[in-house]
Amino acid sequence: MSNRLIAGLLAATAALSAAGIIPQPNQMKKMDGSLELKPDATIVFADTDARQAAEVLAEYLRPATGFKLPVKAGAQGSVVLQTVKVSSLGAEGYTLTVDQKSAKISAQSSAGLFYGVQSLRQLLPIEIFSAKKTTGPWIIPCLEIHDSPRFVWRGMHLDVGRHFFAAKDIKKFIDLLAMHKLNTFHWHLSEDQGWRIEIKKYPKLTSIGGYRASTPPYGNRNGSDGQRYGGFYTQDQIREIVSYAAARHITIVPEIDMPGHMAAAIAAYPEFGNSDIPNYNPEVVTRWGVFPYILAPTEKTLQFVDDVLGEICDLFPSKYIHIGGDEAPKDQWKKSKAAQQVMQRENLQNEHELQSYFIQRVEKMLTKRGRLLVGWDEIREGGLSPQATVMSWRGVRGGIDSAKEGHDVVMAPNTYLYLDYYQNNSKDELAKGIEFECIGGYLPITKVYEFDPVLPGTLTPEEQKHVLGVQAQIWTEYIKTWPKAEYAAFPRGAALAEVAWTQPERKDFSDFAERLAPLRKAYTIMGVNAYDGELPLPPKAKKGSRVTTSMEAYGDHPAVCAFDGRSNTFFWSNRAPNPDDHLTISFDAQLPTAQRVTVTTGGEGKQAGDILVNGVLEISADGKEWQTLVDFKEGKATGTAAAGTESIRLRCTGEQNTWLIVKEITLE
Ligand code: ACM
Repeated sequence: MSNRLIAGLLAATAALSAAGIIPQPNQMKKMDGSLELKPDATIVFADTDARQAAEVLAEYLRPATGFKLPVKAGAQGSVVLQTVKVSSLGAEGYTLTVDQKSAKISAQSSAGLFYGVQSLRQLLPIEIFSAKKTTGPWIIPCLEIHDSPRFVWRGMHLDVGRHFFAAKDIKKFIDLLAMHKLNTFHWHLSEDQGWRIEIKKYPKLTSIGGYRASTPPYGNRNGSDGQRYGGFYTQDQIREIVSYAAARHITIVPEIDMPGHMAAAIAAYPEFGNSDIPNYNPEVVTRWGVFPYILAPTEKTLQFVDDVLGEICDLFPSKYIHIGGDEAPKDQWKKSKAAQQVMQRENLQNEHELQSYFIQRVEKMLTKRGRLLVGWDEIREGGLSPQATVMSWRGVRGGIDSAKEGHDVVMAPNTYLYLDYYQNNSKDELAKGIEFECIGGYLPITKVYEFDPVLPGTLTPEEQKHVLGVQAQIWTEYIKTWPKAEYAAFPRGAALAEVAWTQPERKDFSDFAERLAPLRKAYTIMGVNAYDGELPLPPKAKKGSRVTTSMEAYGDHPAVCAFDGRSNTFFWSNRAPNPDDHLTISFDAQLPTAQRVTVTTGGEGKQAGDILVNGVLEISADGKEWQTLVDFKEGKATGTAAAGTESIRLRCTGEQNTWLIVKEITLE
């Protein structure tokens, strides 16, 4: 065998171990051949705007290759980066061309060049992610990529209130977000259980509000470990992290949650709470949940909020400032004379309108500083501030309604994107140890992957334009250590990245899973404690069929589970069916012979109930004209689908109070 042939084979083998790009680029053409980076490789910037991305690339590649990789101005080199005017690339897009001589990255902006660098890095053998020198060869397959993101807001949130994470962990997190082409880090900096950012004018926020007396241990949410716990970031640390993030094209959106989730601040400064109510005794909270201590809607407190937001705006250049707004119980406002006086003065009908008044005052504080307000979907209650952006967490409802009213929204629904939920069967997780406990829920990576933030069929194309993007949340009641945060975040964060970046027609879970396998090895090489369990297979309808329904699914029980060939899975609606709600099986080809169809609804054991109370089993030869076979009796229907049947459906014919479970539908 000739040397060239051997080299070619080696190259092919090495190229096979390349990580594959996540998120999937929006246009990619693979070509024959490959480029090998050798010890004398150079990285060249064609214009000074491309210099920073060139330096970043060299820094990424030096540790594992052990090459010097000089970064120089010029037009020729192993990798050439250049700024170009190609409007189709947008503000964050890039092209990457690799031929046998060199790789070229072009973009309109340094952000685009940076994303080109991330893609190039993922095309190398995964050992490139090693911090130690590793043997090559460092082969990149020849290809052409033309790529830009689907959404401008590609976010991940982190709660440092319930548990505090060191600045070095935050930086590692930022590096990981950047690698996945996420561009927004929503930093949840204040909570009932701890205030985490130094505010010069109010030092007690951190000296008192930064510490709690105790924390519930794993396995007992009503227990106390009796250990003082806390910490906070100094303004110097914050500035350093903001600039670290900016160098990686990540905007940090800080959140100061108000008027609720403020117990720690109120413990530090009781005068800013509703101090005129009986038994007033605020303290930094030592349990998980929602608590009554909320800010007073008074001028004195609003001045405090203005001062805090002033310092926040000085530290964070982000256009958006998150002011929380979620889960603010109104009991104290009902009891407080001062709060009631504000309601009278402002002619407000109820405490929801008072919250709306409070948020509108806060919006003015941001507007005068040239910033925009974003808040959780509760800021809709009592009237939404005119310019507010809504972050929809209680499912997608608040996002849909806001987009329909012309507000910008970020989709962050708990149903698809709360990464503090179990990603695997909770029994299997807990068998590994009580420290694997999660807050609850079930959110496998398949479910994250399937989310479409613009909700086609619900929002019109015009309304869809208000969807700025998508964000996953990491709440940390049950995340006491940084490795556990990584475990929650990845690899589901890779699925989020593809939801946020890749056009829906380019998404495919099986293909994603193939690219993810090497990326998971890269996580290990990088020392990221990603979840390493088997990936669940996405549920799939039986071959030759499709299953559709007018009802949204509850949890991990999509419609396909009613006809996936598995008796242990089932469809579960997330509401009571209404007349004409349906679940329909459509076959690619008409049935060649008559078949007996059996549909059983309702669950067993803990899921007992949820049968179809009033309904019919119907068939159709064309999906348009339907013929009734039989009524449901006690949740069950059996009938014969004639030869020539193309679709079978169960259709609800009356009101009912309970949700619906549909077990495996059988044809015999
Ligand atoms: C939230 O989960 N309370 C936003």
